Amino acid sequence: MTAEVPFTDVYVDDTIVDRVGEVMRSTRYVKGPELEAFEREFTEECGVEHAVGVSSGTAALLLSLEAAGVGGSEDEQVFVPGNTFFATASPVLALDATPVFVDVDPETYTMDPADLEEKVAAAGNPSAVMPVHIYGAMADMNAITDVADDYDLVVVEDACQAHFAERDGHVAGTAGDAGAFSFYPSKNMTVGGDGGMLVTDRDDVAESARRLRNHGRDGDGVHRALGLNYRLDEVKAVVGREQLRQVRDWNDARVSAAAHYDDCLADVDEVVTPAVPENATHVYHLYVVQVPPADRDALRGYLEDAGVQTGVHYETPAHRHPAVLERVGESSLPVTENLYDRILSLPMHPRLTPGDVSHVCDAVASYFEEGGRGA
Ligand SMILES: Cc1ncc(COP(=O)(O)O)c(C=O)c1O
Repeated sequence: MTAEVPFTDVYVDDTIVDRVGEVMRSTRYVKGPELEAFEREFTEECGVEHAVGVSSGTAALLLSLEAAGVGGSEDEQVFVPGNTFFATASPVLALDATPVFVDVDPETYTMDPADLEEKVAAAGNPSAVMPVHIYGAMADMNAITDVADDYDLVVVEDACQAHFAERDGHVAGTAGDAGAFSFYPSKNMTVGGDGGMLVTDRDDVAESARRLRNHGRDGDGVHRALGLNYRLDEVKAVVGREQLRQVRDWNDARVSAAAHYDDCLADVDEVVTPAVPENATHVYHLYVVQVPPADRDALRGYLEDAGVQTGVHYETPAHRHPAVLERVGESSLPVTENLYDRILSLPMHPRLTPGDVSHVCDAVASYFEEGGRGA
């Protein structure tokens, strides 16, 4: 059955399809003018010096760390939130460094600067911090960069879910040494498949990332580093360019849908809606609410019966996956763990109509009016 209110939606129009056709007919598929233009336009949108297109958000994170000199020794500690997708932590492990998991703020779900400071102060070899702008909300970069400055940490922002979110005058991805974006199809903008972008103001990081994404090879054909192939190809770049032109309008539509959700759900006592700090623009990659743990899965089933697709982001926090546990052991993150059986992601995309949002809210309200099923 097709859902009445789908969880997400990807925008494709004739212009995008025509531009893809042009690139296909040009037969210039890699290292071409579309990527150069996409990178230039991305720097302008973010207000940074450099943008380096790569094959995924994961590659952008990996190359950000590597280009900034992080990794190579297991005693090197990189601070990452537990409340994130696995791909924030996996590049740290792939570079043979050790992730140290940090708890999140209970209201914004982003890295808790106080817990970060405590853990960095106790660490033997603190090297880098990776705040994640989760669900489209920026972490508190002023407080996090204060800690990073005190302990001389590299700052790599995981902005994979937060294209053009803002907080305290910072644009997501631009407050530290480097920032990483994902263009996976469900993200606020896509390239029509996997893709990513690394942004930085540091010339040395940009230069190293460009080399590392292309087999460690320089313009003169000499391989001066051990890089692999993390390039972003021309067809993807042209889709990215077209999406970039529209993503701010789409973000505005997400913000409107979120405001409508906030209004409609305000009277449902069991539901906690997302908090937005002052001086911040949330771009609602996801609209994540909290509900009582006993109701979460039953409510999902009830919504599914009402034609509403939902998600849980994430079923397992990053620090609890076996591939992480076997390398770093258990981490105790009480706030993160308390969230995990409460969070529920409601449908969110720019083409949600007011009627869609009302339908979802009515279904949530009916579930609780009927007394819930998990009680
Ligand atoms: C927070 C976060 N970090 C990293 C990634 C990895 O991005 P990609 O899937 O493009 O490799 C994603 C996307 O899935 C993400 O949501």
